[in-house]
Amino acid sequence: MMKNVAVLVGSLRAASINRRFAEALAKLAEGRLAFRFVEIGDLPIYNDDLWAEPPAAVTRLRQDIAAADAVLLVTPEYNRSYAPALSNAIHWATRPWGQNAWAGKPAAITGTTPGATGTAAGQNALRHLASSVGLDLMIFPEVYWTWKDTHFDGSTLTDAESAKFLSGWIDAFSGFIDRHTKVAA
Ligand SMILES: Cc1cc2nc3c(=O)[nH]c(=O)nc-3n(C[C@H](O)[C@H](O)[C@H](O)COP(=O)(O)O)c2cc1C
Repeated sequence: MMKNVAVLVGSLRAASINRRFAEALAKLAEGRLAFRFVEIGDLPIYNDDLWAEPPAAVTRLRQDIAAADAVLLVTPEYNRSYAPALSNAIHWATRPWGQNAWAGKPAAITGTTPGATGTAAGQNALRHLASSVGLDLMIFPEVYWTWKDTHFDGSTLTDAESAKFLSGWIDAFSGFIDRHTKVAA
């Protein structure tokens, strides 16, 4: 059966290039991986007191992660680091203590910016947090993506060379997920 990937996009704005990039990846992955977008914009800022009556958004997030074969974190770069919406979601799903939803899930990180460095600093900062919560990260190959409007029509990649490169990365991630499943079984 096709593996499903929970996709978390760190930007909450409607016109997010990271969301468009993630949607373009989802289209490229069709038939190989099923990308399922996870809502993180309605999570409250992490507060331990809220566990007294867990917010519905938190319960839903934990269920979405539990149901996923793998996780894709798509982060914008904010001040050479990752987006707070993403770290907020990551912290929520590590709790309650002893019920960390991320532990042992195969995962990858990507992201895009109009800037020349392609979110390299932001993604590398996120690697530390993602591996700290027990995600099994695919470190290589990497995708640091400098956004160019001319390569996309909405959320569809129109640039053939980019599509070929990103398609290769999807194959690598799919292979990583398959190998992981064998090891864990
Ligand atoms: C608070 C803030 C900090 C930013 N810092 C960086 C940065 O360090 N490096 C970078 O390449 N772009 C930076 N940017 C620009 C973002 O890459 C750009 O706004 C991008 O469109 C954000 O992603 P989104 O379209 O998915 O929301 C920053 C933007 C914001 C709002």
